[in-house]
Amino acid sequence: MKKIIITFLFAIVAVNAFASGNIHLDSAPVDVTDKDSLKRGAKHFADYCFSCHSASFMRYNRIGKDLGMDEAEVRDMMIFTRDKKGAPTKYGSLMKVAMSEDYARNAFGAPAPDLSLIARARGADWVYTYLRSFYVDPGRPSGMNNLVFRDVGMPNVLWELQGLQKPVYKTIQHEGKDIEVLDHLELMQPGNMDEKEFDTFTADLVNFMVYLAEPVQAERRSLGWKVLLFLVVFFVVAYLLKKEYWKDVH
Ligand code: HEC
Repeated sequence: MKKIIITFLFAIVAVNAFASGNIHLDSAPVDVTDKDSLKRGAKHFADYCFSCHSASFMRYNRIGKDLGMDEAEVRDMMIFTRDKKGAPTKYGSLMKVAMSEDYARNAFGAPAPDLSLIARARGADWVYTYLRSFYVDPGRPSGMNNLVFRDVGMPNVLWELQGLQKPVYKTIQHEGKDIEVLDHLELMQPGNMDEKEFDTFTADLVNFMVYLAEPVQAERRSLGWKVLLFLVVFFVVAYLLKKEYWKDVH
């Protein structure tokens, strides 16, 4: 039994080490109970990501219900497609995009994956760091590379907001030789937003993706606290009752 537990713990440590690689990930300031942030994130998602990526585990009307928006607001914010017969997409539809995998493969060298579960698959910190870590690399077809996703096929769709970043290298000693390694990224051309504004923009976007990956989590957490509170109160009642029953026995 002991061996199994130890193996299991090592496996967890190994998986974590693998998942984060050797690049430092910035911690994503997400809060799924902040509905204003989620609404802003949903809008950013619709404006900047939804043309290529679907979120096909989610329905529009669920977003409306969870974030407190009516159908007109949701349509205005994120329903830009029509169904096969040319009628406006139904409010209860799944969030799918029209771009086919083949098209993406031709244009970007890779299909754009569905983002429904990405915040759970990669972790919020990874997605947050990824979106802020594109840098200019003339060797790539899109002219861009990424710190946490080497040779990524996705173009840097947020460059107008963030500006362009260039890599700054440093020389380190490795087995007696000098080698150049990427040290950090530096803004070489400013965008429409300053660093703080862009961080807030991406934090809202990642917050929305964290919500997408598990829409009931805010409810689950608040319910969890209520259940724990009930158990504490119930424990006191049960204890007092036990004392009362056993009072005359001793
Ligand atoms: C122009 C099309 C396009 C747009 C717009 C776009 N992406 Fe992508 N994205 C891609 C492609 C293609 C890939 C796959 C890259 C690869 O595998 O090399 C990708 C990959 C990703 C990944 C990594 C997935 C993985 O494999 O782990 C994430 C996360 C992501 N995109 C998030 C976003 C977000 C958030 C937005 C909106 C800000 C966005 N993307 C906008 C095309 C796009």
